[in-house]
Amino acid sequence: MTGRLELVGLRLEAAGRVLVDDVALCLQPGKVLALVGASGSGKSLTTLALLGLLPPGVQRTGGRIILDGIEQDTAGLAALRGRTVGLVQQSPRSSFNPVVTIERHFRETLALAGLRRGAARTRALELLAEVGFDHPAEIVGRYPFQLSGGMLQRVMIALALALDPRFLLADEPTTDLDTVLQAQVLDLLGRLRARRGLGVLLVTHDLSVVARLADHVAVMAGGRIVEQAAVGELFQRPRQPVTRALLEAHLALCQGEPSELAA
Ligand SMILES: Nc1ncnc2c1ncn2[C@@H]1O[C@H](COP(=O)(O)OP(=O)(O)O)[C@@H](O)[C@H]1O
Ligand SMILES: [Mg+2]
Repeated sequence: MTGRLELVGLRLEAAGRVLVDDVALCLQPGKVLALVGASGSGKSLTTLALLGLLPPGVQRTGGRIILDGIEQDTAGLAALRGRTVGLVQQSPRSSFNPVVTIERHFRETLALAGLRRGAARTRALELLAEVGFDHPAEIVGRYPFQLSGGMLQRVMIALALALDPRFLLADEPTTDLDTVLQAQVLDLLGRLRARRGLGVLLVTHDLSVVARLADHVAVMAGGRIVEQAAVGELFQRPRQPVTRALLEAHLALCQGEPSELAA
């Protein structure tokens, strides 16, 4: 369908072992789909498969990726990366080249859109302002180690948006951040979704993140999607034991918070 990025019947294998099977997801403009599930359930591999970026040794042995109703082959997927679909990963620090300034990171990405030095710098400053930096000109000259984890995560989001993608895949974007920075990054994603009409896939194991930002939720377990529902429906009427267990763990944590703060 027009405007959508769909994954149908995804199957991934490594050395004869099935890691992900029969996974279907649909991203829509302006909507956040949360992908939740325990560690090792297949969330990251599913996300990477949407970009045709699987790690060595992992093969796609089934499934189709469909953009605007058109199935994408390998070349089609390569052309989508960055331009139609942006990616934000978990550990900001390991995603940057430590010996290259922030400006050069932008320059390399923006070169793909034909922007040269001056124009690339102007665009980088705009993008950094869009992700909440009050003084972007101070940021572009810095090296990654001169920025905090939360700042780097916002820079990574700005880089992911540099080529104006319609979809953003965010794989545990706040896991390595403290609570205050997590909230900042989530607010930012919410604003970008509204302002740019982005379709977002938000991978997380944190149900408070889901409650805050998601429209729909897909629950993964053992490489499969076991439940998929609108967010309110899932919180009120979880159908699968896996989902109930996630909700119970979430509620236990929430109830633990006030006493933790008091202590
Ligand atoms: N490069 C790889 N080669 C072989 N198996 C892998 C590779 N990457 C991940 N896996 C396996 O695939 C499964 C799903 O991994 P992953 O998608 O990273 O899970 P999640 O992101 O939900 O924690 C796990 O069992 C993991 O061990
Ligand atoms: Mg993962």
